[in-house]
Amino acid sequence: MSILTTQALAKTVAELTAPGKGILAADESAGTIEKRLKTVNVASSEGARRDYRELLFSTPGLDGFISGVILFEETLKQKSVAGVPLVKLLQAQGIVPGIKVDMGTVLMPNFPGETVTQGLDGLARRLSEYKQLGARFAKWRAVIHIGAGIPTPSAIAANAHALARYAAICQEQELVPIVEPEVLMDGDHTLAASARVTEEVLHAVFHALHRQRVALEHMILKPNMVEPGRACPEPATPQQVAQATLICLRRTVPAAVPGINFLSGGQSEATATANLHALNTAVEKQPWVLSFSYGRALQASVLQAWRGEAANKSIAQQGLYKRARLNSAAAQGKYTAVMENE
Ligand code: 13P
Repeated sequence: MSILTTQALAKTVAELTAPGKGILAADESAGTIEKRLKTVNVASSEGARRDYRELLFSTPGLDGFISGVILFEETLKQKSVAGVPLVKLLQAQGIVPGIKVDMGTVLMPNFPGETVTQGLDGLARRLSEYKQLGARFAKWRAVIHIGAGIPTPSAIAANAHALARYAAICQEQELVPIVEPEVLMDGDHTLAASARVTEEVLHAVFHALHRQRVALEHMILKPNMVEPGRACPEPATPQQVAQATLICLRRTVPAAVPGINFLSGGQSEATATANLHALNTAVEKQPWVLSFSYGRALQASVLQAWRGEAANKSIAQQGLYKRARLNSAAAQGKYTAVMENE
């Protein structure tokens, strides 16, 4: 890696991991954004997607709590109603634009119920185009399912390998890779099962990153928190989630990794914030910045407030501002439940 590339990557990492700031995941694919908009009876037209993302990115004061936003390819190329590229709205606030670059998951032949993420072919070429358009970091999501007999070592290895190849290609192209191995919270598995699988997965991912010579200093990890499955009869408190998550991270994630930005994975907004706070108030000091890269846990109430109506824009933006502010407080261990009602 040239010294200039190293410097560019280090600068982006420093901005993304700024104290008390996190990342907004607004990179829902065409299918996912359609589902999300449908929950508030909005049809997913190009204009509706633009209006919604323009609302998010032009939220006044967002830069106080949000360091970067992950975009979907369409958004990276879209303009606001006034003709300003949406990327510019972020840059004007000092927020770093990033881009989701994987092409989604496909079923893995011979491994029922397991998936692998695709998108490596031609990735370097796509990244250089995204960079021209303003992206400075990227995201690739691998998905691991917990169930009877799964995940298998083969699915873990295939997903870890793809994540590591992606990360190496990103760094070559001067984009900071967000490495996202998501162990899904679907199912009735226990906290202990989530811990076992997450540890296995992170171990494999860091082994693969090492094998591909990825510079750990120039990446961000985006993992799931260790938590019981959604249908597990035994729920866990934020303290239990934080404790299990930290044990798992300390065993598997080298101290060279600058930042760990959790996904919310279907947790409610308040739960995701409370969990992040618990993670940042553990007794022992951690070697990494622990923050958020939430999608649903930052946008759920924004969508409900907006419902596709221009007249609701300001109130919806206030909703985003509030969630970003509370998660910023949680990232500094300064959140209290009372703040939800302020
Ligand atoms: P959630 O926080 O809604 O899980 O989304 C984060 C994300 O980017 C998933 O890839």
